[in-house]
Amino acid sequence: MENVITIDGPAGAGKSTVSKAVAARLQYVYLDTGALYRALAYKALKHTINVNSSAELAELCSTTDVTLKNIDGKITVYIDGNDVGDKIRTEEVGLAASTISAFPVVREKLLSLQREAGACGGIVAEGRDMGSVVFPDAQFKFFLDANIEERIRRRRTELIQKNGPAGLDSISRDMQARDHQDSQRKTAPLTVSPNAIIIDSTSLEASQVVEIILERISGRHA
Ligand code: DC
Repeated sequence: MENVITIDGPAGAGKSTVSKAVAARLQYVYLDTGALYRALAYKALKHTINVNSSAELAELCSTTDVTLKNIDGKITVYIDGNDVGDKIRTEEVGLAASTISAFPVVREKLLSLQREAGACGGIVAEGRDMGSVVFPDAQFKFFLDANIEERIRRRRTELIQKNGPAGLDSISRDMQARDHQDSQRKTAPLTVSPNAIIIDSTSLEASQVVEIILERISGRHA
């Protein structure tokens, strides 16, 4: 698929910052697919739905309207007509999103939405299965990684900026749980696509990762 760039990787690897910047530089739209899972998880938590019950999740999926709206190049997720905004950016919602994302009924509900968003190209899509499942024919695929200590540090800095203090132990626990769930699930696990370019961002600034990606895309790399 021409002009489709996928960026997959574990939580805290810097995917969002990098994907947004790459999209801005190329004047592409940016699709944050984690926001779709988070939005559905947010509704599940709000309605005290059991996030481990496939029957309850099937009911949630069949009664929830999820849409994507492109407003000035920024794709926003709407659940039942409402933009959930920053309420989905907590560790609690992230962990619940990881849990529900293992259920095929949830993945199926969100698959066509993601593909429609990329149908015309000009997109940077970020997530776990962008290169493996959603856009297997993407023109460029990247896998962004970083060691767990660095990912925990980054997530903590981000949470402190947003909500105030964030305990290292709970972030570490949540991240390890998410790593495990996201990579061990049967349906569309986090994996490196065979033709993906792997970038280890542990000792790189986000701006350096952006340059590496842009160089690869333009064929300027050595
Ligand atoms: O990228 P994120 O941390 O906002 O994603 C939250 C969770 O959603 C993640 O732990 C697993 C799930 N997810 C997924 O299964 N597939 C995607 N393409 C994106 C996110």
